Amino acid sequence: WALFADDVEAIWRLKRERNAVILAHNYQTPEIFHGVADIVGDSLALAREAVTAEADVIVLAGVYFMAETAKLLNPSKTVLIPDAGAGCSLADSITPADVRLMRLAHPGVPVIAYVNTSAAVKAEVDICCTSGNAKKIVEGLGVPKVIMLPDQYLAKNVAAETDVEIIAWAGQCEVHERFTAQDVRELRAGHPGVTVLVHPECPPDVVAEADFAGSTAAMADFVGDRRPARVVLLTECSMSDNVAVKYPDIDFVRPCNLCPHMKKITLKNIRAALEDNLHEVTIDPALAERARASVTRMLAL
Ligand code: 13P
Ligand code: SF4
Repeated sequence: WALFADDVEAIWRLKRERNAVILAHNYQTPEIFHGVADIVGDSLALAREAVTAEADVIVLAGVYFMAETAKLLNPSKTVLIPDAGAGCSLADSITPADVRLMRLAHPGVPVIAYVNTSAAVKAEVDICCTSGNAKKIVEGLGVPKVIMLPDQYLAKNVAAETDVEIIAWAGQCEVHERFTAQDVRELRAGHPGVTVLVHPECPPDVVAEADFAGSTAAMADFVGDRRPARVVLLTECSMSDNVAVKYPDIDFVRPCNLCPHMKKITLKNIRAALEDNLHEVTIDPALAERARASVTRMLAL
């Protein structure tokens, strides 16, 4: 902590001076997650918190689509992302024109966008979902067939749990696509009794070999509620670091994949964001109105 003390103290001072709040995703490093964040959670929780945030400034310690979502939901606030280049392979996998072409190919079929998309893509769809509510949204529309984009694995994993037919896009998360079913088998052989939790952005054969699949918040809740003696979270590396702090009695096995985008956020650039108002998220108002409708429909469902 001595390494971080100067930046941590400065960030707490700046938050008071600017009436700012830091919303941090579960994949942020422990010094951010435990040291300076006011609210932590999965994409769904951060979106909900953005709606009710009363601070003048929201700093989103996460990736760009999360900051855009916060701005959509609370447009009068100044929303800052400490590194504007913190992207996401899923958000980058699809454009608004792609969505329009999908609609032409499947007339009348409602389109669900994972929140891991740009505001411009959200503006083209009917409703959003997160990994925490995907099945509920798919079934909540009350139709036999939906388009769900851009994560083909999330779409296939939800399809395995519902009778609704799901037409998928071909996007993948560059972090979760790298886990294999063989990894799960080797983990079980090497760590007897291990409980295997996976994120639903993992390929379906990985999910099939796991004990539980859920959003980052659902994985953290599983560990807290069930207290497995030994557990592995097949997801981004900081997730285990952050959860393990709370449960010193649990043996966390830690193979993981880093998200290079999440790791662009540091204490240094959070401090600079608050000092110099970097990097402010702006969205064209007409586009924002359409994108906001997709996110608020999700929150209403
Ligand atoms: P969660 O909504 O489960 O936190 O996932 C966000 C994400 O980017 C996972 O890779
Ligand atoms: Fe995007 Fe995957 Fe990184 Fe999540 S972990 S932000 S889905 S690239």
